[in-house]
Amino acid sequence: MTKIALFASGSGSNVQAIAEAVEAGTVPAEIVLLVCDKPDAYVLERAEKLGIPTFAFKPKEYESKEAFETDIVSRLRAAGAEYVFLAGYMRLIGPTLLNAYRNRIVNIHPSLLPAFPGKDAIGQAFEAGVKISGVTVHFVDEGMDTGPIIDQECVRIHSGMTRDDVQTAIQKIEHTLYPNVIKNLLNGNREEQN
Ligand code: GAR
Repeated sequence: MTKIALFASGSGSNVQAIAEAVEAGTVPAEIVLLVCDKPDAYVLERAEKLGIPTFAFKPKEYESKEAFETDIVSRLRAAGAEYVFLAGYMRLIGPTLLNAYRNRIVNIHPSLLPAFPGKDAIGQAFEAGVKISGVTVHFVDEGMDTGPIIDQECVRIHSGMTRDDVQTAIQKIEHTLYPNVIKNLLNGNREEQN
């Protein structure tokens, strides 16, 4: 069973979806740690209910990004984590983490990258008036949402949909796409997803 860590900053609906897929036996993994940079985030309550060990920290309490990422890496290693899956972790990954987990950090982003990288991708797409948006799962590199794409799925934005409607449609897809990508990645059949 592959040991994985999840990183999140917010509500944690993707963490919940991944944990349920692990529980159901469809994702062959053990979630050994949830890392959260916002100690009051709802994802921590979910993790407690799900029985997932957590590490919550305040970036401002460290002297640098290198310092908190060094702490994270030592906790990941202590937990035996082999992969890191970002699930709404709203912070750019720095060289300390990237070097420790090279090609083993994956992110989910709520747009069809390379369109609408960065914050509030759903709002950006909504404001731009695009008729198709979607979800991207990709490996993390030094850039902002720039790493190699593993899989994507699209969402049609119909006229009359509100921003919240778009968010609901996108998150619904995230909750099946992300566990599926993780399953395939851990099973070593990345190319069979298409
Ligand atoms: C998700 O929609 C995820 O794609 C997005 O944050 C949301 C977290 O929701 N991530 C990014 O925007 C990363 N750039 P959740 O906390 O309910 O899983």
